[in-house]
Amino acid sequence: MSTTTEQRDQVVNSAINEISHIATLPQVTLQIIKLVEDPKSTASDLHEVISGDPALSSRILKVVNSSFYGLPGQIASINRAIVLLGLNAVKNIAIAASLSKLFRGGNLTPRFSAEDLWAHSNATAAASKIIVDTLKMGLSDEAFLAGLMHDIGIMVMMQSDRQKLIEVVESLGVNAAGVPLMDMLEVEESVYGANHCNFGEALCKKWKFPRCLELVTAYHHAPLTADKDSRTLPCVVYLADRLVAEMGEKPYRLDLQTLDIDEGVLEVLKLDGEKLESLKTRLAESAADVATLLG
Ligand SMILES: [Fe+2]
Ligand SMILES: [Fe+2]
Repeated sequence: MSTTTEQRDQVVNSAINEISHIATLPQVTLQIIKLVEDPKSTASDLHEVISGDPALSSRILKVVNSSFYGLPGQIASINRAIVLLGLNAVKNIAIAASLSKLFRGGNLTPRFSAEDLWAHSNATAAASKIIVDTLKMGLSDEAFLAGLMHDIGIMVMMQSDRQKLIEVVESLGVNAAGVPLMDMLEVEESVYGANHCNFGEALCKKWKFPRCLELVTAYHHAPLTADKDSRTLPCVVYLADRLVAEMGEKPYRLDLQTLDIDEGVLEVLKLDGEKLESLKTRLAESAADVATLLG
């Protein structure tokens, strides 16, 4: 029997309610989002909020000083970062830097830990930003956060019912090369009654994140099924997800049975073979930075 949309919504909503004590955004993040949405707020307002949280400030500076932002010299203050990158970019970095707390929970099974997923999310965030910057797509501020958020539905699943996530990962099975033997989304649906795209989309809604982030979590496995006008960012993250799964010592790819890239996605991104190769080279060059991005 297939799950109806209604049953699925019910499963997703009750999971989101169940985890609401853990999955609330930190106060400082909420303040930052509110502030940037207010047209009257200034750079010094943002600076004041961020500097009240030294750990967050240093995380932000680490990201700002990473090679992706290509800023001249070492940026030592949040004020300087705001001047160089703008309010919106610093807001997105601040949200990203405050998400690490949600990716905790230790080793679930030998094949899955929240920390591995966090490392994968960091790598996908950096790769998404590199893709939009290289292709000059003008979505730079959102791409990083979109990459970071794309698999957050897995954390919702983990925090709402760890046992079920263990069941999902165990039933998947992987071969010697780390390739999953089954489609994770299908296994999630049979175990939970919904998949991580559904859970992620619901969490973004609850957090009142921009619609483009909701769409990335919802469509990162099937970007061409999204509305034509909103396919670009899901396509970017779809590509980033696959490219980072080819890199690093222990790449996370439980939800990717194949790393083949749909021709239609390449078309949306206007990527030919040559451009794709140069993207891969750039990603490989920044791999060391990616690994320790948000720490
Ligand atoms: Fe995914
Ligand atoms: Fe992913």
